[in-house]
Amino acid sequence: MPYKILEKRELGDSDILFEMVLETPLIAKKARAGHFVLIRINETGERIPLTVADYDREKGTITIVFQVVGKTTKLLSHQNIGNEILDVIGPLGNAIHVEKIEDPIVIVGGGVGIAPCYPQAKELKEAGNKIITIMGARNTGLLFWREKMRAVSDELIICTDDGTEGIKGVVTEPLKDIIKREKVAYVIAIGPLIMMKFVALTTNGSGDLPKVKTYISLNTIMIDGTGMCGGCRYPTLDGQIFHACVDGPDVDGHTVDFDQLLKRATRFLEEEKICLDAYDHACQALEKYKEENM
Ligand SMILES: Cc1cc2nc3c(=O)[nH]c(=O)nc-3n(C[C@H](O)[C@H](O)[C@H](O)COP(=O)(O)OP(=O)(O)OC[C@H]3O[C@@H](n4cnc5c(N)ncnc54)[C@H](O)[C@@H]3O)c2cc1C
Ligand code: FES
Repeated sequence: MPYKILEKRELGDSDILFEMVLETPLIAKKARAGHFVLIRINETGERIPLTVADYDREKGTITIVFQVVGKTTKLLSHQNIGNEILDVIGPLGNAIHVEKIEDPIVIVGGGVGIAPCYPQAKELKEAGNKIITIMGARNTGLLFWREKMRAVSDELIICTDDGTEGIKGVVTEPLKDIIKREKVAYVIAIGPLIMMKFVALTTNGSGDLPKVKTYISLNTIMIDGTGMCGGCRYPTLDGQIFHACVDGPDVDGHTVDFDQLLKRATRFLEEEKICLDAYDHACQALEKYKEENM
C-alpha cells in the first residue's frame, strides 16, 4: 500500500534538510519515541531507515526529518506533497523506556539528530521529568525545531561550531558544565557517530568528570530491519556482536566500539558515490530533455 506525502518543508537554511508528514495510520497508532521506519520510495529503490521524529495518532500521520547525503535521500527530497512512497515499514526498533526520575535528563542532538531527540524529550517531559536539551550544528543554517525543542525542555542550550548561533563550540562543552554542576540521571545523545563517540567519552567517568549513563542511537546501515540480514551488526568493546535494528537503535554508549563502527560506516563509499553520480546524471538528462522538448 503506498503512503501519501501530506506535508513537506525545507528546514533551516541549508537546502539539505527536509521534514515530511506521511499518511501512515497503522504506524501512527503504535509509534513511540525510539522507533524508526524503513522507507522504499519506488520499485527499484533501496530501503533506508529514518526515525519517527513525531507522530499524530488522531490524524494517522508520522513525521520524518532527513538530511540529503546520498542517492535515496536526494530522491526523497525530490518528492512533493501528494506523491506516494511505495513502502513505509514500521514502527521498528525498541521504544525508549519512560518513567519519572528525580534527577534531570540531558538530551544532546547534533545536526539532523535533533529530530529524533524531539519525541524522546516530549515523552520524557510528559512523564514529569526535567529535561535539559543541548542542540548543536555546524552553523545556524543547519539548526531547526528550536521552538518545538524549547516546548519540551526545561532548559535549552544551542551551540554552533562557527558561533553563528548560541555558544561557539561543540555540544560536549555545555555537557561538561552540566554534569559538573548537577547530578544527572542519564544522557541521551543522537547525531553523527563522531559526536556520539565524544559524548560517550565525556560521560564515561575516565577523567575528572562523573560517570553518567549515556544512551546513543546507532545509525548503522540497515536492510531488513528485523534482525535477519546482518547489515546493522555492531561490535561492543567486550567483543560481543549485536544488531542495531532489534537490540537498538538506542543502546548504552559506553559499551559501543565506535572505532569499529566508524570503519564499518565507510565500507560502501565507492558504491554510494557511483549510485549518486548515476542519479545526478539522470536528473541532468531529464532537465535537458524538458528544456528542449517542453
Ligand atoms: C535507525 C536509524 C535511523 C535513522 N534516522 C535518520 C533520520 O531520522 N534522518 C536522517 O537524515 N537519517 C537517518 N538515518 C540515516 C539514514 O538512514 C542514511 O542517511 C540514509 O540511509 C542514507 O541513504 P542515501 O542513499 O541517501 O545515502 P548513501 O549513498 O547510502 O550514503 C551516502 C553517505 O551518507 C552517509 N550515510 C549512509 N548511511 C548512513 C547512516 N545509516 N547513518 C549516517 N550516515 C550514513 C555516509 O557518509 C555515506 O557515504 C538513520 C539511520 C538509522 C540506522
Ligand atoms: S537491518 Fe538486517 S539485521 Fe538489522
